[in-house]
Amino acid sequence: ANPAGHEDRKQEQLERRRVSPEGAAGLTTDQGVRVDDTDNSLKAGERGPSLMEDFHLREKITHFDHERIPERVVHARGSGAYGHFTLTESLAEYTTAEFLCDTSLTTPVFVRFSTVAGSRGSADTVRDVRGFATKFYTNQGNFDLVGNNMPVFFIQDGIKFPDFVHAVKPEPPNEIPQASSAHDTLWDFVQLQPETMHMMMWLMSDRALPRSYAMMEGFGVHTFRLVNAEGRGTFVKFHWKPKLGVHSLAWDETQKIAGKDPDFNRRDLWDRIDAGDFPEYELGVQLVPEEDEHRFGFDLLDPTKIIPEEEVPVRTVGRMVLDRNPDNFFAETEQVAFHLGNVVPGIDFTNDPLLQARLFSYLDTQLIRLGGPNFPQIPVNQPVADVRNHQRDGYHQMRLHQGQASYHKNSLGGGCPAVGGPGSFTHYQERVDGEKIRKRSDSFKDHYSQATLFWNSMSDWEKEHIVGAFRFELGKCEHKQIREGVVAQLNHVDHGLAVQVAEGVGVEPPSDAATANHGRTSPALSQDTQPG
Ligand code: HEM
Repeated sequence: ANPAGHEDRKQEQLERRRVSPEGAAGLTTDQGVRVDDTDNSLKAGERGPSLMEDFHLREKITHFDHERIPERVVHARGSGAYGHFTLTESLAEYTTAEFLCDTSLTTPVFVRFSTVAGSRGSADTVRDVRGFATKFYTNQGNFDLVGNNMPVFFIQDGIKFPDFVHAVKPEPPNEIPQASSAHDTLWDFVQLQPETMHMMMWLMSDRALPRSYAMMEGFGVHTFRLVNAEGRGTFVKFHWKPKLGVHSLAWDETQKIAGKDPDFNRRDLWDRIDAGDFPEYELGVQLVPEEDEHRFGFDLLDPTKIIPEEEVPVRTVGRMVLDRNPDNFFAETEQVAFHLGNVVPGIDFTNDPLLQARLFSYLDTQLIRLGGPNFPQIPVNQPVADVRNHQRDGYHQMRLHQGQASYHKNSLGGGCPAVGGPGSFTHYQERVDGEKIRKRSDSFKDHYSQATLFWNSMSDWEKEHIVGAFRFELGKCEHKQIREGVVAQLNHVDHGLAVQVAEGVGVEPPSDAATANHGRTSPALSQDTQPG
């Protein structure tokens, strides 16, 4: 039984794959042969050369030589835990996803929290976005909610993601600096890409310094779609709200902790679960009927925008508790493979161009990171739902498929699973009509209003922290023209903010507020609904 005391199909599945600690029963090779000595290699004479025929020496060293796999290209540093999701309010009116309809179900989950820019061994308490990725092992297959602890993103179109990440990662000549928010390339990207401004406000706020993963919100960021039994779609934004509330570290604390305990957040997560003080989150949804798609002062497909909670309240529909630490960091936390494209019937995508690029990226990167197409068979990734198809062979194939035929349709034995029918995934039928063009909709052009909304919603001390963060991070930027460029961008967000930052980073403060035109040109965007 798991700590929560209820049935858990995932834990039963994992139990069958567990290897208990090696006892005193006798060391063997990978072939199961008992070893006589593991401290001395086989030599020709006591002081002689080691012999090639020492298969134990060769196997032991070869395996060691191959212990490392590539770290994730982003979100390399992370910590994970198992838990459970229970539904408190049925969404059956909006979706056919069983785990969001049936309040009697308990769905096992695995969650991985991460920083974004640092490498696998970097410190936890850096100024950065945090990943909050949840794998729901539902009876209808795995659903992955691959979110962050901030509700918006830096860019509007995934084609910019490689540029953005190159700007955030340490610089090519010398792999300096490790701290992502304090260097010229990031700020250069920011000054040249105004769509980053809303997210940069979040990144310079205390949200970028979470005290504990148990005190952190999570957001799906994109607008997704729920689809009900009649095929009707409803736009949805997903939210995780921590039971303990949102709490951050103070900047000065993060600096000291990074030196004294770089594993601060990882240790905290582990210790809480170990002590039975289980992290808990509510799942919330913001639901928008399809007919209201154009009622906002921004585009629902634009991932640099929130839907203000005053306009569409967050409905709490479920609760997640993290109650079991993994057995093995590498096997589970490192090898877990989240993918935005892992959806179940009743949950579907939208045309958000950032979302669409992500749909390609995750499987592609995991094919190399996890060594070929069979990584869904790794225990942490394996669904509790049955897997039946004609996918065969490939590196690390662990299944013993039976039968003569491995194709659809067949009459020779080898299984011929039925295709379609009740419970199968049907893509949402959206009418699409347009010319092939590389262009972004005018409805994506307002880059500042919600950054201003964010700034205006801050208390005085929060504003002080944000100004301090801009001064510290941007102040490290060596090129004056970049500092000036960022201040010019901030002047579109708030004149007072721009002046205060300018004074701290050695550039001339702007004399006037930037003109109010925030780039809105679409007739669909009405002044009345403009937030802020
Ligand atoms: C991890 C790509 C935007 C959240 C990753 C990984 C890639 C990637 C390649 C590594 C995956 C692996 O090796 O298993 C992209 C691309 C994006 C994008 C191309 C934009 C086009 C986002 C956004 C979010 C996000 C907007 C949040 C809403 C995450 C998280 C992880 C991750 C949480 C870590 C998953 C884990 O813990 O294993 N991303 N990403 N990414 N991404 Fe994204």
